[in-house]
Amino acid sequence: MDNDLLLELVNLSKGYEHPAGRVEVLKGVSLQLNSGDRVAITGPSGSGKSTLLNLIGCLDRPDAGEIFYRQNSLSDFSQTALDEFRLRRISIVFQTHHLLPQCTALENVLLPTLPIGGETAATVDRAEELLTMAGLHERRNHFPGELSGGECQRIAVCRALINSPELLLADEPTGALDHHTALELLDLIDQLTDNSMALLMVTHSLEAAARMKCRFELTEGLLREK
Ligand SMILES: Nc1ncnc2c1ncn2[C@@H]1O[C@H](COP(=O)(O)OP(=O)(O)O)[C@@H](O)[C@H]1O
Ligand SMILES: [Mg+2]
Repeated sequence: MDNDLLLELVNLSKGYEHPAGRVEVLKGVSLQLNSGDRVAITGPSGSGKSTLLNLIGCLDRPDAGEIFYRQNSLSDFSQTALDEFRLRRISIVFQTHHLLPQCTALENVLLPTLPIGGETAATVDRAEELLTMAGLHERRNHFPGELSGGECQRIAVCRALINSPELLLADEPTGALDHHTALELLDLIDQLTDNSMALLMVTHSLEAAARMKCRFELTEGLLREK
């Protein structure tokens, strides 16, 4: 048994009911991810990339197949274990930053700490450290409406990492950014993720995918290594 095996997807299937009939989106997706792995998933629009990340992030459930985290099936997790998994072990960055407009940059980064003890000197230090690495320490008391799209997305990355997850999921994190700003965001993700973390990034950008060690393409409901 591989101790570094963090995440294992086994034969995941997922479809949706539409008025015009059922659409099978994932038709048996399998994948293994170790600590420190950096994996890109590309694929045409509508191929099911977000569907797949939503299953891993427990935002939705597969119709069939299983997701194992450190060799334990998520379907066997108690509600407490599932909450712990979602709050501490994994984190998701989306295409849009979803920052709370009424909270400052620093308060946004601290949000995921609220359900697990909230603001302490240590979490504030960590949030400030992340914002410093993102080049945004001087903007920590600014509101999202006072910041650019790229800056907000960098804050969203800091927020995703505040609880030190073991797996960072990113769904087209650069999709709404211009080329230069997208490269800055990818550099930041590189800088803030280390060997103790796995990164699974869905991207349209072949340039972004090329920076990752492993690349898969999702087509016709199946994941194929590239
Ligand atoms: N909640 C949903 N209800 C019905 N159909 C959905 C839902 N989410 C996604 N789909 C459909 O599943 C397919 C894959 O969508 P998605 O996972 O968003 O693809 P991608 O992220 O690769 O663009 C699309 O045909 C989409 O319309
Ligand atoms: Mg998508």
